[in-house]
Amino acid sequence: MEIDYSSRISIRPFKVTDVDDFMSWAGDDQVTRFLRWKTFTSKEEALTFIKDICIPHPWRRSICVDDHCSISFISVFPGLGNDRCRADMGYALATKHWGQGITTKAVKIALSQVFKDLPDLVRLQGFVDVENKASQRVLEKTGFQKEGLPRKYCHIKGKITDLLAYSFLSTDSTSIE
Ligand SMILES: CC(C)(COP(=O)(O)OP(=O)(O)OC[C@H]1O[C@@H](n2cnc3c(N)ncnc32)[C@H](O)[C@@H]1OP(=O)(O)O)[C@@H](O)C(=O)NCCC(=O)NCCS
Repeated sequence: MEIDYSSRISIRPFKVTDVDDFMSWAGDDQVTRFLRWKTFTSKEEALTFIKDICIPHPWRRSICVDDHCSISFISVFPGLGNDRCRADMGYALATKHWGQGITTKAVKIALSQVFKDLPDLVRLQGFVDVENKASQRVLEKTGFQKEGLPRKYCHIKGKITDLLAYSFLSTDSTSIE
C-alpha cells in the first residue's frame, strides 16, 4: 500500500543535531551525483558544513517527515545587490525516500514561504542535468517553466555540462494540497 506523506512533510532551518541524519544522505554518492558538492565522508566535515554553510545560509531548510529530520535539504540562494530579484533553488533527498512525492511537496511548501521571506525575490530558477529526469519532473509538477538548455553552464563533478533551465516567478501559481 502506498503511504500518503503529503500532510506529514514540513521544512525548518538546520540544527547542529541534524548531523547524523545529514550524513545518511549527504554521504551517499547516488544523492550527490547531480549536485555540485562532493559526497561527505566524515561526521566532522558534515558538522562544519552545517555550522558554517547551512545555519548561516540565507534560506536553506531541512526537510522533515513527521519529527524525522533531516531526510534532505531544500535551499534558495538569492543574488546580491541588484541581483536580489532572482535566486537559485537546490534540493536533494535521501534515496530510501525517493519516489513518494516528498520533494514535490517540499518545493510547494518552499514556494509558499520564500517570496514572503525574501521580499525582493521575483524569479526563482533551477538548473537540472538532462539525465536527471526525477528533478525535471519535480519542477514540472510544482509549476516551474522550462526555458531552454544553456550550454556548458557549469562544472559538475569535474565536467562542464549543459543544464536545463527552469523558472518560477512570484506571479506564477502552484497548489499546496
Ligand atoms: C531529484 C530528487 C530530489 C527527487 O525527489 P523525490 O522526492 O523522489 O521526487 P518526487 O517523488 O516528488 O517526484 C519525482 C518524479 O520523478 C519521476 N521520476 C523519477 N525517476 C524518473 C526517471 N528516471 N524518468 C522519468 N521520471 C522519473 C517520478 O515518477 C515522479 O513523478 P510522478 O509523480 O509524475 O510519478 C531525488 O531524486 C534526489 O535527491 N536526487 C539526487 C539529488 C538531485 O538530483 N537533486 C536535484 C539537482 S537539480
